[in-house]
Amino acid sequence: MSEPRQILVTSALPYANGSIHLGHMLEYIQTDMWVRFQKLRGNQCIYVCADDAHGSAIMLRAEKEGITPEQLIANVQAEHAGDFADFLVDFDNFHSTHSDENRELSSMIYSRLRDAGHIATRSVTQYFDPEKGMFLADRFIKGTCPKCAAEDQYGDNCEKCGATYAPTELKDPKSAISGATPVLRDSQHFFFKLPDFQAMLQQWTRSGTLQDAVANKLAEWLDSGLQEWDISRDAPYFGFEIPGEPGKYFYVWLDAPIGYMASFKNLCARRPELDFDAFWNKDSKAELYHFIGKDIVNFHALFWPAMLEGAGLRKPTAVNVHGYLTVNGAKMSKSRGTFIKARTYLDHLQPEYLRYYYAAKLGRGVDDLDLNLEDFVQKVNSDLVGKVVNIASRCAGFIHKGNDGVMVAGDAAPELTEAFIAAAPSIADAYEGRDFGRAMREIMALADRANAWIADKAPWSLAKQEGKQDEVQAICAQGINLFRQLVIFLKPVLPLLAADAEAFLNVAPLAWNDHLSRLENHQLNPFKALMSRIELAKVEAMVAASKEDLLAAEAAAPAGNGELAKDPLSAEIEFDTFAAVDLRVALIVKAEAVPGADKLLQLTLDIGDERRNVFSGIKSAYPDPSKLEGRLTMMVANLKPRKMRFGVSEGMVMAAGPGGEEIYLLSPDSGAKPGQRIK
Ligand code: MSP
Ligand code: ZN
Repeated sequence: MSEPRQILVTSALPYANGSIHLGHMLEYIQTDMWVRFQKLRGNQCIYVCADDAHGSAIMLRAEKEGITPEQLIANVQAEHAGDFADFLVDFDNFHSTHSDENRELSSMIYSRLRDAGHIATRSVTQYFDPEKGMFLADRFIKGTCPKCAAEDQYGDNCEKCGATYAPTELKDPKSAISGATPVLRDSQHFFFKLPDFQAMLQQWTRSGTLQDAVANKLAEWLDSGLQEWDISRDAPYFGFEIPGEPGKYFYVWLDAPIGYMASFKNLCARRPELDFDAFWNKDSKAELYHFIGKDIVNFHALFWPAMLEGAGLRKPTAVNVHGYLTVNGAKMSKSRGTFIKARTYLDHLQPEYLRYYYAAKLGRGVDDLDLNLEDFVQKVNSDLVGKVVNIASRCAGFIHKGNDGVMVAGDAAPELTEAFIAAAPSIADAYEGRDFGRAMREIMALADRANAWIADKAPWSLAKQEGKQDEVQAICAQGINLFRQLVIFLKPVLPLLAADAEAFLNVAPLAWNDHLSRLENHQLNPFKALMSRIELAKVEAMVAASKEDLLAAEAAAPAGNGELAKDPLSAEIEFDTFAAVDLRVALIVKAEAVPGADKLLQLTLDIGDERRNVFSGIKSAYPDPSKLEGRLTMMVANLKPRKMRFGVSEGMVMAAGPGGEEIYLLSPDSGAKPGQRIK
């Protein structure tokens, strides 16, 4: 074998303000399969990731929840790490961009860029929210489309007519955060001089680092000339302050890719055999691969290589771009229940079903991938259960019954053994090139041949005949050996199945080259079912639960949430869905501020037969909460209890209004009694 390669691999860093869904998983699963393949081949391959923890969205969400950004990102990091682990995504390190390593590296790279003359400063005029005291990114401004007059459109584009425009062109602009009318204000901004790297990027994007479709797309930008990139944001912002520039912060996308390095650096501190500089210096021999979705190509294939070049560091070996996930042929939809969170999937189904389905459908291109739920059930059942696991379950019983679980020596079908060995280089080649679909097709073609051979030999009929025991044992030992080869080929995709198979086969963890050898005169462990069929009912339950997630998210959204206003709150629901909501008249027995939470009140509610503890984000409108005591309001009484930092919230009170001081708690007419149902 040639020298083992040194490979550093990343997936894009998920934002720390939301849950992981099956669209994200398309990326993390494919990266993990590629990394596992490299490790199986004996290469040194390191897979790092992190949460992308900075930016105004995270700052605002933390504020809304009444917690600090640090608490929010710690909560989300724990959730993300759990989701990834349960999908068998095996990071060598999962770090955070809000870390010491990232602060140091960001400052180092920025200083080098500045000292080399790649940073410019100039004044920028932008909308500013006078109430909130902050500059507004385009998506935090709403108004009337200048082209088609549709109301309630975002600051950069109209969802009705598709027009794109500057936020200053919007008619009747409003801050989506406070509702205030924004004013124009000047501020000094820092720019990264991307045009300095035009020639390098022209060359780099065409040097085999990118898929053709991606390089062609970038050529459109490159040919029309690059713009300087605004890398600063004004306080208040959650991020790193720019060294020597108080009140100015790095834009989240400046320090996000540096987070790849930071995560690796953090790992190096635990793994002395890893040398940070050997991976990142200008003439590093190590390989560096980024897996990303098609929406973030310019950050990874223009800005990032330019930053690295400007800072005197190595550039990526390749950026591997994938398309988007659709479900049942359409964009994931909350109201159809196809916006499926990683956790919701895991509550109902095994992770390896999805890993296999993604593998079977992934190619080298940037096309979108459709998760068709019926096809998913059919394909997993037919390939994994019907073809692969079936070989072992057909053969194991005869070996245990007829020969005490010992596989006999001798190759009963040398032509098959050879065919499997001959197929390995092509399968490896497909994995290496990320053509997982081709790898799966070639593996399943081998499984078909193994099954056909066993069916033809029919050990189950021979077993009933006198004097055929040796033949039965030879056939079944061969079947198990073929199964073992298939397991090796599938191990990057199905690590749990492989571990269970290794336990049954009574062997040490299998490596790629083990497919060249056979088990002979070998004791097996008892066989237990390796994988069961997917039941359609489980898939249906997952879709139903995803619809519930939507309702819960809407119910939990505090008043005045500009961002969530975009969610399909207006989606039609069935009468049954409405009827399932238990609305009650509630008496506010006690109302207090929550120490440490800016926005929350803690309410004790009397609903007739019981008392409920509810946290509600209405403090901004009721600065003196005791005034609420004794008042009647309305509550959702059958909302799933929600664990918050301050305690468990057991329901929700109902209020109207855009937020801030304008929150209006709903009340019934006088005469209503606590506990009465609202119908
Ligand atoms: N935080 C940035 C990445 C910074 S990398 C230095 C980000 N985060 S994200 O959470 O929005 O997305 C993480 C990855 O998931 C991205 O590569 C994105 O393309 C991918 N996907 C998000 N939704 C997806 C689908 N529906 N389908 C496939 N991939 C998707 O972008
Ligand atoms: Zn419009």
